[in-house]
Amino acid sequence: MKKCFAYIIGLLLLASCSEGKSPLYLDASAPIEKRVEDLLSRMTLEEKILQLNQYTVGRNDNINNIGELAEKIPAEIGSLICFLESPEDRNKIQRYIVENSRLGIPCLFGFDVIHGFRTICPIPLAQAASWDPELALRGAQVAAREAYDVGIDWTFSPMVDVARDPRWGRVMEGYGEDTYLASRFSEATVRGYQGPSIESLSEPGTIAACLKHYVGYGASEAGRDYVPTEISSQTLWDTYLPPFEAGIKAGAQTVMSAFNNISGTPASANRYTMTTVLKEMWNHDGFIVSDWDAVLQLKNQGMAADDKDATALAFNAGLEMDMVDDLYRKHLPELIKEGRVSMEQVDESVRRVLRVKFRLGLFEKPYTDEKPASERILLPEYKQAALDMARESIVLLKNDDNALPVSTASRVALIGPFADSAEDMLGNWAGRGRAEDVVTYLDGLRAVYPSLTYVQDIKAVQAASTHDVTILCLGQKRSWSGENTSRSDIRIPDIQQSLLREVSKAAHQRGHKLVVVLTNGRPLDLSDVEPYADAIVEAWHLGVMAGPALADVISGAESPSGRLTMTFPRSVGQIPIYYNRRSSGRRGTQGIYKDDMPITPLYEFGHGLSYATFEYSDITLDGLTATVTVKNTSSVDAKEVIQWYVQDPASVITRPVKELRHFEKRMIKAGESETFTFEIDPLRDLGFVDSFGHKYVDPGEYVLSVRGCEKSARLIL
Ligand code: GLC
Repeated sequence: MKKCFAYIIGLLLLASCSEGKSPLYLDASAPIEKRVEDLLSRMTLEEKILQLNQYTVGRNDNINNIGELAEKIPAEIGSLICFLESPEDRNKIQRYIVENSRLGIPCLFGFDVIHGFRTICPIPLAQAASWDPELALRGAQVAAREAYDVGIDWTFSPMVDVARDPRWGRVMEGYGEDTYLASRFSEATVRGYQGPSIESLSEPGTIAACLKHYVGYGASEAGRDYVPTEISSQTLWDTYLPPFEAGIKAGAQTVMSAFNNISGTPASANRYTMTTVLKEMWNHDGFIVSDWDAVLQLKNQGMAADDKDATALAFNAGLEMDMVDDLYRKHLPELIKEGRVSMEQVDESVRRVLRVKFRLGLFEKPYTDEKPASERILLPEYKQAALDMARESIVLLKNDDNALPVSTASRVALIGPFADSAEDMLGNWAGRGRAEDVVTYLDGLRAVYPSLTYVQDIKAVQAASTHDVTILCLGQKRSWSGENTSRSDIRIPDIQQSLLREVSKAAHQRGHKLVVVLTNGRPLDLSDVEPYADAIVEAWHLGVMAGPALADVISGAESPSGRLTMTFPRSVGQIPIYYNRRSSGRRGTQGIYKDDMPITPLYEFGHGLSYATFEYSDITLDGLTATVTVKNTSSVDAKEVIQWYVQDPASVITRPVKELRHFEKRMIKAGESETFTFEIDPLRDLGFVDSFGHKYVDPGEYVLSVRGCEKSARLIL
């Protein structure tokens, strides 16, 4: 019955077209809102509901989400997670959908393009360590162009979850522990994917962004994935929501609801966050997609009695699209009949999905150009962007007696499990990245140190006694961070620890140097590494250009300019430990650990050494303009990161002991000085937010400080 009714509508539609008039929704010159309304008015209930569903196409390689593949893809499906690698295969599916559905609504192809599609850049936690959002923007532009050219319209990125527990494996996907820095990278990455405005979304090479995981997923208790989170309204507003607000302001078209339970109300059925905050307070006019099976999981989370109940709870909370568990298709019709879901809400949800499709230009250009791979992946400019970012993501944690840089005349030995590992340079969530695309540490270093000795076996220890410098590559495999990879122990494996001790002894007996290079996706407990190494280089998972980037830093062609955006604890027992904590009521010997573990971290937020030395002037304040002059007192050109912190020592809602509120990275030539200015906007830079999301400025005294500058400045409002 329904089918023939649909075909009657189809015939009427054709009749109207037969007068030579194309339906308004296909008129590219018409305003998008009119096209949306016209199309919506022509859709049947079944067609509307299928627009709110997302299935998968292609071989799903996410080991945490292996589910049954959709047997048959309905031509009216709203979106597909696209595991295909060629534009031809993707276009074949799109053509089937456009040509076999009554209204020819194109499908939205989504995929996890987290730090590159095929040209893999450093993991986001490494990108953040560059303290240069422009590099992240460029990386996102490269990712968007590669993904667009294979037919991906939408990426499930950036992940902007503030995270303060390195036991949680997904810290590799985000930007670390600081809300302000995560917000700057959120907006930069959104603009990299989508372009500077909504209008640029329909241009070639741009794709829709998706802010995730909304919200508070990084607070997963004990660092275990998928578990509940306890987040007060105050902390929700002052810590976890701002990076999403920044991304929305940058135009992010979509948001992904999270797996975590937010203090009793799961994120994927949380009306306050998904409707009150996102739609009513922030006026977001795109849509929310659930995380994988997150609607279905409302039962496990103890909220839904059954699948139908889960559907009603999620949909009525404001979750527009259901990722792969198929509950919306199965249960919305009945829920509408029973009056538990309104047609107005269905229409509004479909409106939001169609709006994004129209903005992307999918109706005008449903098929991507089928360029040969040589014209669309791993292009030189893409690899250059990956190299530039990798160079600046490297953090020099320790450098005793200037062990680094290493002269090209030195006898260098390279050893350790990651020295020639291509796979592990990619990191987790590496899109369609391949090990074959990677320049390993060995390849990169050999280009600079042709006589380098690479030793893989037990002779590694002996090599340390016969070479001036040994570079020992240790860390964690790419599979040890990412989704569902929580670890209760964040040290390097024992076998690496013993190798380190042997090599250190052999090197230092002969007065030789030992440089440890770390490959990892989370902060590590390096308490047992630090004493054995003269220098420690944090190299994260740097992507396809890992080798050349490391070689540039080791040789001194590039002075390391990365700074940590997540605290490295002395022990997992100190967690949670992060710099912008609230102040304690007790000081001195009260509130510390009694087993002589200091309460300070091994390496704090903002830490990172340079080959240059910098001298900071006092901070001067002229009204609301703060300046500091920094002199490079060395003979080495180097980039420095100026980090401005604000303290509000007395506030009705107590503030963190200090908060990053402005930063700038700039090259300072050897012997020269640069002046850095922070134009303070009281509400933006000194203001705070209350538990209702209201921003305010507290009159009174503020203390301004700059990392590396002993003096601070007092500002009275
Ligand atoms: C995963 C992740 C999410 C990802 C989605 C689709 O479970 O939580 O980040 O975008 O499923 O792969």
